Amino acid sequence: MIHSRIVGTGSYLPGEPVTNGDLVARGIDTSDQWIVERTGIRSRHLAPEGVSCSELAEAASRNAIDAADVDPASIDLIIVATSTPDYIFPSSAALLQARLGIRNAGAAFDIQAVCSGFVYALTVADKFIRSGSHKRALVVGAEVFSRILDWNDRGTCVLFGDGAGAVIVEASEEPGLLASAIHADGAYNPILCVPGSVSGGTVIGDPFLRMDGQAVFKFAVKVLGEVAQEVLAEAGLGTDDVDWLIPHQANIRILQATARRLGLPMTRVITTVDQHGNTSAASIPLALDLAVRDGRIGKGSRILLEGVGGGFTWGAVLLGM
Ligand code: ACO
Repeated sequence: MIHSRIVGTGSYLPGEPVTNGDLVARGIDTSDQWIVERTGIRSRHLAPEGVSCSELAEAASRNAIDAADVDPASIDLIIVATSTPDYIFPSSAALLQARLGIRNAGAAFDIQAVCSGFVYALTVADKFIRSGSHKRALVVGAEVFSRILDWNDRGTCVLFGDGAGAVIVEASEEPGLLASAIHADGAYNPILCVPGSVSGGTVIGDPFLRMDGQAVFKFAVKVLGEVAQEVLAEAGLGTDDVDWLIPHQANIRILQATARRLGLPMTRVITTVDQHGNTSAASIPLALDLAVRDGRIGKGSRILLEGVGGGFTWGAVLLGM
C-alpha cells in the first residue's frame, strides 16, 4: 500500500518584524495593549513592495528541498495554497516551478481555500500520491496578505502578516499522513471576504479584506473542534495520542478555545501568532517548520494540523513524522 509522508520542511518570512508599536508609529489608530489583549499578536512580517507570493514561496521551498535533500527535478507535483497570488494567471505554482528551474514536471496548480489552504493542499497531495499517479510533491502555503488589507481599517489591518511555508511530501511504505478531512460551506462567504474583481481594466467592488470578527471567531472555534474529532475518529486515535496541535494561527484566543475543547494543554500547541500574526495559508507550514527546526517536532511525532478560513472552508490533517 502506498502512503504519503513529509520528508522535509521549510519556511520564509520577509524583512524585519513589524511590531504593534511600529503600526502605531505609522499612524494606525491602535495600541500594543489592544492588539495583544484581543489577539496575542505582538509583531508580523510585511513583504517589501514588489515582493510577490511566488518569491516568498521560492525561498520556503528551497529550504524544504534542502531539508529533504532531494533533487528539485524529481518533484512531479507542485501545489501552492494562496489567496494572494502573483497574477490572475498563470498560477503562483507555475511561477514557482519556473523559479525553481523545474522543467516538464507533472503538474503545478494553486489552491484557493484562504486560511485552510495548506490543509486542503496537503490533503490533495496525499490523494495524488496514494493513487500512484505522482511520487514527490512540493506543497506550499504562501501569502502577501498585506496587499489586500485596508490600512484604514484598524479592526483588520493589525491582524495579518506575510510569509511562506513549504513541505516535501513523497510516496512511502511507512504511513505518514494518517487521516484528513476538508469541508466548506459557501453560505458563510459574507463574514470574511475580499468582495472585488478585475474586469475591463478596473476593480469592480471592494479589493480589501472585510470581516465580521465576532462571527468568524464563533464559527472558527466550533468547526476546529469538530474537524479535529473527525480526523482522530477516522484514525482510531484520541487527543492523548497527539503530541502537537498546530492550528491555523488566527488569534491566540481561538487557539486557546480550540485546545480547551479538545482537552489539550497549551503546552502541546505550537504557537506563532504572537510573532507572525495571521499569515493565512502560510501559518500552519510556518509553525510546523519552526517546531521541526527547534527540535520540538521530530521523527515519530504525531501532529494534528487544522485550519479554518474564508469560504468558509475548514479541515484537518493528522500526521506522523
Ligand atoms: N485597536 C484599537 N481598537 C480597536 C481595534 C484596534 N486595532 N480594532 C477595533 N477596535 C475597537 C472597535 O472600534 C470597538 O470600539 P467601540 O467599542 O468603541 O466601538 C472595540 O475595539 C471592539 O471592537 P470589536 O470588533 O467588537 O472587537 P472584538 O472584541 O470582536 O475583537 C477581533 C476583534 C480581534 C477581530 C475579534 O473579533 C477576533 O479575533 N475575531 C476572529 C477573527 C479572526 O481571527 N480573523 C482572522 C481571519 S479568519 C481566520 O483566519 C479563520
